Amino acid sequence: MPYCAASWRAAVSAVRCIFLRSRIAQPRKARLSPIEVAKLFGTPTYVYSKAALTESFLAYANACKTYAQGDDGALVCYAMKASSNLAILHLLKELGAGFDIVSGGELERVLAIGGDPKKVIFSGVGKTREEMRLALSHDILCFNVESIPELHRLNEVAGSVGKQARISLRVNPNVDAKTHPYISTGLKENKFGVAFEDALSTYRAAASLPHIHPVGIDCHIGSQLLDDAPLLEALDKLIDLVDALAREGIHLHHLDIGGGIGINYKDDEPVAIAKYVERVFARINQWRLHNHQGKPIKVMFEPGRSIVGNAGILLTEVQYLKHGATKHFAIVDAAMNDLMRPAMYEAWHGVEPVVQHSQPAKTYDIVGPVCESGDWLARSRELSLQEGDLLAILSAGAYGMTMASNYNTRGRAAEVIVDGDQAHLIRKRENPSELFALESILK
Ligand code: LLP
Repeated sequence: MPYCAASWRAAVSAVRCIFLRSRIAQPRKARLSPIEVAKLFGTPTYVYSKAALTESFLAYANACKTYAQGDDGALVCYAMKASSNLAILHLLKELGAGFDIVSGGELERVLAIGGDPKKVIFSGVGKTREEMRLALSHDILCFNVESIPELHRLNEVAGSVGKQARISLRVNPNVDAKTHPYISTGLKENKFGVAFEDALSTYRAAASLPHIHPVGIDCHIGSQLLDDAPLLEALDKLIDLVDALAREGIHLHHLDIGGGIGINYKDDEPVAIAKYVERVFARINQWRLHNHQGKPIKVMFEPGRSIVGNAGILLTEVQYLKHGATKHFAIVDAAMNDLMRPAMYEAWHGVEPVVQHSQPAKTYDIVGPVCESGDWLARSRELSLQEGDLLAILSAGAYGMTMASNYNTRGRAAEVIVDGDQAHLIRKRENPSELFALESILK
């Protein structure tokens, strides 16, 4: 079956997957097709678009430049839990990104790409002493502290290494993010942050600790938010706290509104990044003029999904078509261990065949080879398929590879970045011997 450029192009543009954006822009120059990528690197493979990554990061950065007061008025700290391949981090660093990290391992990634620890904020509810020491030794910008015990531990660790830890408190504003319950984090019942009512007293306690320096305030209310109203509501609550703290003599330098802006998976209409940033600064700038005596405050963003989500697809090959009594299954070579989101959240990802066939479509569940009924990537999709077909699982750039596992001793997928008509392997496919290299047999 010949490679069908037109259908691929239509599929690609229809579903926002920008894998071959350059091909669409320069059809004569482009030589790359998903088939060639699969031939070169095999499947399953995550494929990211450099153009799309750049565009989404610059949507934040350029809007900040336009609306923030002065060059130092904003910092976009990419939440690398969404996708943390060194090549992606390096690209974003070169564009000016800081990083939001949640582990010592993620800090090691920043160091590995020559990132500036002064642009790193450390989130997460369970930082260990070792992680604190590592972050202090590199003088990171700020710890986002999530509890009183963490505050005391950080004070003790900072004291033991003769440092002061810059902190912000992650305040839980009790705002409903109106998203999937598993990725909603700003409600009272969630494990994250310090309760809004306890924030003032916790800041007072923080300010009295010798090795703690409160410099900011932080929140993150959830992920895949389509509407920015809950984020702006949370922002208003943080602004009130900044004012209340200033009245007590605790003056903060930055306000971190977290991540959370959603992407289009299926007919979703997320707020445009630039619009959201504009609205944030409309509030911030008005408040600075009227309440904050024009004093500068830096605004930080921690976006993850909105930067990488629609910049990546998962390329997979149909192994078998199985026609059951009540269902048709397309068994592909990617599985829940490669892309956990459907199994974990019943998440919907678009599925586009690279080659379109003329035979009538059937309704398929797209499933992997893993021994779990939960091992599915998509359900009830009208597709015309043949064995050996390549499928693009769309909007897979965020929380795809970073959540992958080796379940069933399956090596994790390869990762590739497409840059114009070039494809670069940025992570090799894992082979079985690498998977058990750290294991040993009893003597
Ligand atoms: N900051 C903090 C403190 C976070 O916990 C997160 C995401 C972010 C920033 C980035 O949020 P984003 O801009 O990506 O929405 N695995 C789930 C998503 C979990 C989000 C965890 N926190 C999924 O696949 O949908």
